[in-house]
Amino acid sequence: MAELSIGILASGAGSNFDAIAAAIDAGRLRARIACVLSNRAGAAVLAKAGTRGIPTRVIEHGTFESREQFDTAIADALDGFGAGLVAMAGFDRVVTATLLRRFPARVVNIHPALLPAFRGSHAQAQAAAYGVTIAGATVHFVDEDVDHGPIILQAAVPVVPGEDEESLRHRILAVEHRIYPQALNWIADGRVEIDGRLVRIRGRRAVADQYLISPAIED
Ligand code: GRF
Repeated sequence: MAELSIGILASGAGSNFDAIAAAIDAGRLRARIACVLSNRAGAAVLAKAGTRGIPTRVIEHGTFESREQFDTAIADALDGFGAGLVAMAGFDRVVTATLLRRFPARVVNIHPALLPAFRGSHAQAQAAAYGVTIAGATVHFVDEDVDHGPIILQAAVPVVPGEDEESLRHRILAVEHRIYPQALNWIADGRVEIDGRLVRIRGRRAVADQYLISPAIED
């Protein structure tokens, strides 16, 4: 199987980009990063990619008349860099069918909540304000609805009583950095099948003997 070439879309700090790049370096993700595209010229992720010698391009959404025109420019750039899979990693734009049609079932995202709870922006703040005691992160395929497509992998973390949103954000990020490279590696290995809303990972079974109770209880 040809090596998977990942095009990363990112707008911010790029810690997920770093985790993906580190997993490739460590041999845990058998893929390469084709490019990092950002809609924000000042995004820290661009410098991080540059340091690793990964090609970057800034495509500012504000210079386009419509989301579709922006998505066409993004898809053209991804094609130009030879990306076979698109990984959104802190990309703060909603993508349209224009992009999804160019990469059918080949666009993935990481969301800092246990979907379908807390879709949209500021998911960690939404979770904290709602009072959930278990939060987490989700890697999913992208469809035309925001934070909605078929779920590949999720991780849960307890919400620590009294912690601020920043602390929760960091603890969720730590599991994001574990699960995003793993989900990408399953895709790279050709083990991920989509069946409607359901995703099957060939050769993997759900863990049936582990659970997280939060707050902790006495047995
Ligand atoms: C992450 O929390 C991700 O789940 C969300 O945006 C954040 C990006 O962080 N979509 P980083 O830029 O990868 O550090």
